Amino acid sequence: MYRKEFYVFDQDKPVPAIIRNYTEEDFTNLIQIQQECFPPPFPSELWWNHEQLKNHITLFPEGALCIEVDGELAGSMTGLLVNFDPTHPDHTWEEVTANGYITNHDPKGNTLYVVDISVRPAFRKLGLGKWLMSSMYDVVVHLGLDRLLGGGRMPGYHLKSSELTAEQYLDAIVKGEVKDPVITFLLRCGRTPVKVVANYLDDEESCHYGTLMEWKNPFKI
Ligand SMILES: CC(C)(COP(=O)(O)OP(=O)(O)OC[C@H]1O[C@@H](n2cnc3c(N)ncnc32)[C@H](O)[C@@H]1OP(=O)(O)O)[C@@H](O)C(=O)NCCC(=O)NCCS
Repeated sequence: MYRKEFYVFDQDKPVPAIIRNYTEEDFTNLIQIQQECFPPPFPSELWWNHEQLKNHITLFPEGALCIEVDGELAGSMTGLLVNFDPTHPDHTWEEVTANGYITNHDPKGNTLYVVDISVRPAFRKLGLGKWLMSSMYDVVVHLGLDRLLGGGRMPGYHLKSSELTAEQYLDAIVKGEVKDPVITFLLRCGRTPVKVVANYLDDEESCHYGTLMEWKNPFKI
């Protein structure tokens, strides 16, 4: 199991932090974090429920990580294993995560697929999301997987959708002309775009698009 104790910096002040696997005792806080992270118009049915979280810690506990800052739960990240075929990259979030229940988790899968990453608004821009991502990269390396993969929301796209296609919006982000709250974050975490997928998730702000983004295990190339 995973446990990392370190310091994050709030301005210039080091604050103790822990990244560890989440357990049933964290469920109430995890659901609260989801509510804070995905306010309307995001559909509330997509927030975690108890049964989904129970599946995460039962089927693939290695992929159920949370971060505590000064003893307070500040964010989480969840994954499952799937067999990804790069020649057939298209899928929806619902298909690839069994609607967040991860009942399709394949212990022999070659890819750690990200179901969700969320950091409580009051704890944003402190590097916590990046720490969670790098911890999940540790899991990829530890398990000898080929890659980490996930569909990033593009919540800034609705602001540009009258001028740009989703692909053009992604290009503009990669060129540094536009910043997106999620895609730019994922690029800064070392993830690289694979493909834009239409109808990836019921997500108005992203006009229902997602961008598949991967991180390849550097020991497997
Ligand atoms: C996306 C999210 C997890 C980022 O968490 P965070 O802890 O604030 O991110 P970090 O502080 O680790 O940021 C890492 C890097 O991304 C950049 N970044 C973070 N948020 C950003 C934003 N809104 N716009 C542009 N860049 C951003 C940071 O500047 C930082 O860059 P650096 O490493 O070069 O300094 C958080 O905003 C969140 O929970 N959002 C809502 C839930 C969501 O949409 N999750 C994604 C599901 S696909």
